[in-house]
Amino acid sequence: MSNGVEREQWGSKLGFILAAAGSAVGLGNIWRFPYVCGMNGGAAFLILYVAIVFIIGYSVMMAEISVGRKAELNAVGSFRKVAGGPWVLLGWMGVACGFIILSYYCVIGGWTIKYILASFTGLMQAGAEGKAGDIFGGFITNTPQVVIYQALFMLITIFIVAQGVGEGIEKYCKILMPMLFVLLLVLIVRSVTLPGAGEGIAFYLKPDFSKITGPTLLAAAGQAFFSLSLGMGCMVTYGSYLDKQTFIPGAAAQVCFLDTAVAFLAGLVIFPAVFAFGVEPGAGPGLTFVTLPGIFSQMPGGAVWSALFFLLLMVAGITSSISLLEVVGAYFMDELKWTRKKTAWTLGIVIFLMGIPSAYSLTGGLKIAGKDFLDAADFVASNVLLPLGGLFIALFVGWFWKDEAEKEVTNQGTKPFGLHTPWVWVCRIVAPLTLAYIFITGLKW
Ligand code: TRP
Repeated sequence: MSNGVEREQWGSKLGFILAAAGSAVGLGNIWRFPYVCGMNGGAAFLILYVAIVFIIGYSVMMAEISVGRKAELNAVGSFRKVAGGPWVLLGWMGVACGFIILSYYCVIGGWTIKYILASFTGLMQAGAEGKAGDIFGGFITNTPQVVIYQALFMLITIFIVAQGVGEGIEKYCKILMPMLFVLLLVLIVRSVTLPGAGEGIAFYLKPDFSKITGPTLLAAAGQAFFSLSLGMGCMVTYGSYLDKQTFIPGAAAQVCFLDTAVAFLAGLVIFPAVFAFGVEPGAGPGLTFVTLPGIFSQMPGGAVWSALFFLLLMVAGITSSISLLEVVGAYFMDELKWTRKKTAWTLGIVIFLMGIPSAYSLTGGLKIAGKDFLDAADFVASNVLLPLGGLFIALFVGWFWKDEAEKEVTNQGTKPFGLHTPWVWVCRIVAPLTLAYIFITGLKW
């Protein structure tokens, strides 16, 4: 893509959907969604979350992909080309946000690698004895070990991004993502048939709207943007590799649907088991990692299931982490004409170093105004920067780029988009006002 060579493109329409879904489906669905849902009251959160995904998330996703496909550039370059002026800040904010998210994302990604191996070295036994929490606690407070696995996860990310978009990204999504999906279905069967699972199903599916507060709403919006990879130019960048024939509203709908399905299924695995094993649903970021071993230990051949699951989860995490590195990398390649290899390695190493404070903060020893460094970084990125980015992208497309956007989503008028008018009004009014309201009522450290 640098040095005047023709810009890379996805191999096929399916290639884009797989890659975009690969970016969206990741640790956000299986690690982050269940614990955020658990901390925010369960079923009522789930309903709000789904509403935000399909009204605001879907609209912002189309906005991002349209801008990217039109401009055929990285996030900063795209906004400079189609908008100019202060809108370029949106691109910058996205690149900065990519640095932050990827820095701690690799720490959690490292946990999945650790758990693949631990499946065969005592994790099952601990799960069976209800001691998976001790194993988890012992691991995350051992910073050198956490950093080694973090480095491994980052190395895999770098290798793939260094190879390039076409072969690099698509190939890995095609077989492994459907496998993860099937494995989740198997785990649901085991989880909902555990004794005592009913209470968890009720927690997850029977809403109690009195639990909804401002901060809960903000958490739902933050989770929606994080999970859909929105608000920081990721879908702008991926859209920039998209061919001109693909129907953006259809592709975006598929990505939103797949992503939400995986998160929903993950909740259906985790919550019945949370209650069956007497774990606190609001236990926080370790929720998935202390609950799953218990489920596996109750299955014949549990260690193998467990290793396979964490392997697939790692792959889902990798297809997301490469999208994060790709966003920041595309900027350095397009604008500074760095080669792909130099970009992937330089940025990868810098971001790895940026993640070390997050890894160390798991010991409880590094706090920013009362929050662990990792939580603080995640809060700033997911609950502030991403929704803010989404708000401005919606405003831009809804008010200043409406006609161009219409051409882009209808492929120059050749494919009608039935929801075009509602989409424009969501971008103009609904998304900005809702997000502004959520910020005002929910922004508490
Ligand atoms: N969506 C991914 C997940 O759920 C994480 C991710 C990838 C992301 N690219 C992003 C989050 C861009 C925000 C912005 O795990």
